[in-house]
Amino acid sequence: MGARLGFVCCLLFVQILPGVFCWGKEGHYVTCKIAQKLFTEDADAAVKKLLPGHAEGDLAGLCSWPDEIRHQYKWRWTGPLHYIDTPDFKCNYDCCRDCHDSHHHKDRCVAGAIYNYSTQLTAYNDPEHLQSYNLTEALLFLSHFMGDIHQPLHVGFTGDEGGNTIIVRWYRRKTNLHHVWDNMIIESALKKFYDSDISVMIKAIQQDIQEGKSADIPPWGNCKSNHTVCSNPYASESIGLACKYAYRNATPGSTLGDEYFLDRLPIVEKRLAQGGVRLAATLNRIFTSPTTISTT
Ligand SMILES: *[C@@H]1O[C@H](CO)[C@@H](O)[C@H](O)[C@H]1NC(C)=O
Ligand SMILES: *[C@@H]1O[C@H](CO)[C@@H](O)[C@H](O)[C@H]1NC(C)=O
Ligand SMILES: *[C@@H]1O[C@H](CO)[C@@H](O)[C@H](O)[C@H]1NC(C)=O
Ligand SMILES: [Zn+2]
Repeated sequence: MGARLGFVCCLLFVQILPGVFCWGKEGHYVTCKIAQKLFTEDADAAVKKLLPGHAEGDLAGLCSWPDEIRHQYKWRWTGPLHYIDTPDFKCNYDCCRDCHDSHHHKDRCVAGAIYNYSTQLTAYNDPEHLQSYNLTEALLFLSHFMGDIHQPLHVGFTGDEGGNTIIVRWYRRKTNLHHVWDNMIIESALKKFYDSDISVMIKAIQQDIQEGKSADIPPWGNCKSNHTVCSNPYASESIGLACKYAYRNATPGSTLGDEYFLDRLPIVEKRLAQGGVRLAATLNRIFTSPTTISTT
C-alpha cells in the first residue's frame, strides 16, 4: 500500500526534478525491508523506539525521507551526502581524494555520512553521553545512505554526475543512465517478473540470500578487524560495478533494452540485498554492543 503510493509520488517528483534522486523509493524500501527481517531483538527494539509514531514501527516506510527533505533550505547541505564523485574513468575510490562536497568539506559524501550517523547512534547505549544529536534523524540517514552507497552509479564519474548527464532511452522512454539504475531496472523487473508487487520482489531477494548465495553472506555483513561500520569497501565495490556494468554499452544516445536489462538486473538485486544485510549487521553491532565504536 505505502509502496504503491510512494511509486506514484516518485514518478511525479522525477518529472519535476529529473536526475536528482538516488535509488528510487522502491529501492530504499526493498533494502530497508530486507534489513528489518535481520535485526537482533535489541536492534529491533532500539529502531522501534527511535522511529516517529506515524511510522508504526516500520523503518522501510521512512527510508526515503532524506530524499524528500534534501531540497529544503535547511537540509540543502545534505545533498552531497547521497553520493561520491570520482575522477573520470579511474574506476576506483579513494576516500581522501573523493569524499568531500563541492566546497571541499571533508567527509561530506555518502561513505563519510555512514560513519557520521553510525557514530552518533552509538550514543544510544551510552547513558552518560549527552545526546547532542537527533538519533531519529541519524537512523533515517544511515538507513537511506546504506542503500545509496550500494547503487553503483552513486559512486560515479564527476564529468557525467554519476550518469545523470548521459541521456539514453530505456526501451522507448527517454531518460538518463543514473535514473535507469535508480528506478527503471527495478520498475521493469517489478512489471515483468514480480506481478507489480514489491513484496513479491522482496521475498524473491530474501530467498536468494538464504539459498545459493548463503555461503557469501557472512562476509557481506562483516567488517575487517571487527569494526562496527565500514563503508569505504562498499564505495569501492560500487565504482567497480559502475565501470564493469553500468557505463558499459550505455553511451550517450544509446537505447537500452532487454539485453542490458536482463544482464544488469542480477547486479541490482544483489546490491539491494547487500545494502539490507549490511544495514542490519551495522545496526545490530551498534545496538547490541555498549562499547565505543571503532571505524575505518
Ligand atoms: C554529521 O552529522 C551532523 C548532524 O546531521 C552534521 O551537523 C555534521 O555536519 C555531519 N558531519 C559531516 C562531516 O557530514
Ligand atoms: C528529530 O528529528 C525529526 C525529523 O527531523 C523531528 O520530527 C523530531 O521533532 C526531532 N526530535 C527532536 C527531539 O528534536
Ligand atoms: C573479532 O572477534 C572475534 C570474536 O569476538 C575474535 O575471535 C577475533 O579475534 C576478532 N578479530 C580481530 C581482528 O580483532
Ligand atoms: Zn539518496
